[in-house]
Amino acid sequence: IDPSLAKTPQMGWNSWNKYQCNVNETVIVNTANFMVSSGLKDLGYQYINIDDCWSLHQRDNSTQRIVPDPEKFPNGIKGVADKVHALGLKLGIYSDAGTNTCAGYPGSYGYEQIDAQAFSDWGVDYLKYDNCNNLGLAGNASISSKRYKRMGDALKNVSRPIFFSLCSWGQDDVWDWGRSVGGQSWRMSGDISDHWSSVVSIINQEVPIANISAPGGWNDMDMLEVGVYDQMTITEYTSHFSIWAAMKSPMILGNDITNMTSDIKNIITNKEVIAVSQDSLGESVKQRWVKGDTHLFAGPLSGQAYVALFLNEGNSTVTMTGTWSDVFNNKHANKQKSIAVRDLWAHTDLGSFRAAVSVDVEAHGVRMLRFNQQA
Ligand code: GLA
Repeated sequence: IDPSLAKTPQMGWNSWNKYQCNVNETVIVNTANFMVSSGLKDLGYQYINIDDCWSLHQRDNSTQRIVPDPEKFPNGIKGVADKVHALGLKLGIYSDAGTNTCAGYPGSYGYEQIDAQAFSDWGVDYLKYDNCNNLGLAGNASISSKRYKRMGDALKNVSRPIFFSLCSWGQDDVWDWGRSVGGQSWRMSGDISDHWSSVVSIINQEVPIANISAPGGWNDMDMLEVGVYDQMTITEYTSHFSIWAAMKSPMILGNDITNMTSDIKNIITNKEVIAVSQDSLGESVKQRWVKGDTHLFAGPLSGQAYVALFLNEGNSTVTMTGTWSDVFNNKHANKQKSIAVRDLWAHTDLGSFRAAVSVDVEAHGVRMLRFNQQA
């Protein structure tokens, strides 16, 4: 575990949302190749993560290691890691802090050091560590954290730096102990799905704990659903991507990036929004107010800048106003100061405003504005 790996929220791709158990070397290597050729790698997406269902059901009798399924991964995990590394990308794998994974494959409980060593030997750079089949060892922070710490400690004993991503579904207030067991991100909710209601529900769960995320460890709002099954509109996917970036969630794509529409590609390649996600200050936006279906979120960026996110969960377009006291949280708000405002989706400078800025926000949409100085 290397703290420098989590200076900003991790970016990459994971096989689960789109492929579920149909993961194999072809899917992983094609995705990795496209990550480079499409320019996504240059935007910061670097992890290619294998999720559940990569192994056989039985461990190796003599080494006790988990065995990669030879039909899905004929060159083992090492073979895939070599190909992914040759592209300048990093490889992630998945296991579970219980006897079995959620899909019933071997979990790492009781085998933490054996598995951490295997992952290190294979060239794995990232471990997503799930919470199924946990022998009832859950129900409070002390019990759950011990289960996760066993793997955190094992990862510290291997030579390869491996990013440690806890998939703990927000159980037992993981945000209070994720960091102390070596975690660099921790899921704060149940599984996301490709529906607007799921996105809204996760945002509401994140609001009260948004102060926890900081360089070194992040609340994980789950993998992105942008373009996975097209169950959301482009407006909704744009909001989803914007909020995950501004709240400093990991940015792990879940769609088939080798076959996406230009609308979807425009969302996941927005450099100005990615720059908010990867801003070196690493501070989540906070909810400033809720008025009916509208929410204003705002927070600081590095270099005295600020970002504000105007979210409309309602079903018709509304005009929303953010005063300087709202956006800057009264801290330094000089109400008379004129400030230049940039729209991060229109890629346009909106001009200079004094005291407040008003924007029209469409149904289920956001406006994401950047202020290059404080009021
Ligand atoms: C759990 C996790 C998901 C995914 C599946 C795989 O539900 O929360 O993200 O990894 O298991 O079985």
